[in-house]
Amino acid sequence: MNRKSGLVAAPLTTRGAEKESFAHDVVAGLSATPKRIAPKYFYDSDGSRLFEDITRTAEYYPTRSEHEILRMQAGAIVQHFPTGAALVEFGSGACIKVRFLLDAARKLKAYVPVDIAGEFLNAEAAALRKHYPNLVILPVVADFMEPFALPEAVADLPKIGFFPGSTIGNFEPHEAAAFLRHAGTILGKGAVMIVGVDLVKDEKVLNAAYNDAAGVTARFNLNLLRRINRELGGNFKLDGFEHHAFYNRERNRIEMHLASRARQKVTVAGSAFEFRAGETIHTENSYKYSPESFAALARGAGWKLLDRWTDAKGNFAVCALELA
Ligand code: SAH
Ligand code: AVI
Repeated sequence: MNRKSGLVAAPLTTRGAEKESFAHDVVAGLSATPKRIAPKYFYDSDGSRLFEDITRTAEYYPTRSEHEILRMQAGAIVQHFPTGAALVEFGSGACIKVRFLLDAARKLKAYVPVDIAGEFLNAEAAALRKHYPNLVILPVVADFMEPFALPEAVADLPKIGFFPGSTIGNFEPHEAAAFLRHAGTILGKGAVMIVGVDLVKDEKVLNAAYNDAAGVTARFNLNLLRRINRELGGNFKLDGFEHHAFYNRERNRIEMHLASRARQKVTVAGSAFEFRAGETIHTENSYKYSPESFAALARGAGWKLLDRWTDAKGNFAVCALELA
């Protein structure tokens, strides 16, 4: 309970339904050709922790680049924030980047981190409350691609969206546009949105970022199979699959796959699936944009570019968008 406001930070969890959609999506994805599983399923608590480990590898530049921008430009970014607003973060993870904005924007009324990884989200929100005791922090456990309700307490406040990390790059471009439209509906009239976008660059840098020498990204990818075994009664042998990540130049995206090391049969949620040697499960795309191509995508989804900042190396962009 937040004593000042009388608000209860009660996250919405629907574990049974979540598990059912997980089972449904995995069975459908493994029945498809080529086999695929959506990247949102990486993020159980172990997956969320492994992602944080990725951000600390020498090769994974996006987090350091975005931190540089947020550190240098927080003052300019928050100039776009209306007074007394609620900051809604999509895919908040460890709630680290938002601290740059919370420190610079003293007049925010509430922070609403939204994430599909419920346990991790609630733990991170609790840690954040200790640092910002006067801020109303209202976590929402939800799939941000689906309709979901913001807490009643922020209904009448102006909204600012925050979507860092280039998580938008994990969507197909048409899904990214659909997400931006959907976010516009959730945030409402007059909304501003701050979006982190990874930029097209030297392929060696891109390939290294998703193939770190310590194998953290490989563990993150393979953790998906561990999660399926645990939650869906799967019998994937973890040493039967290996991490493949490469830049697809035609489509401006990193692709991540789990490749079967041999011909094998796997059972998940009571269904059997055959794998050829070398056959893969496509687990993630990470699209890279040019500043112009991202502005065009946002424009097509009803958002006007207000401002844009990049890091010194030009690796990453943070864009301020306004609902047109
Ligand atoms: N914003 C953080 C974390 C990025 S990792 C950063 O920039 O470092 C991506 C985050 O988005 C994870 O925390 C994951 O759980 C969340 N996520 C991915 N797909 C999601 C979905 N469909 N709905 C809600 N959260 C999602
Ligand atoms: C969260 N998302 C933007 C990360 C990315 O770079 O696409 C997830 C990730 N996958 C492998 N490494 C990091």
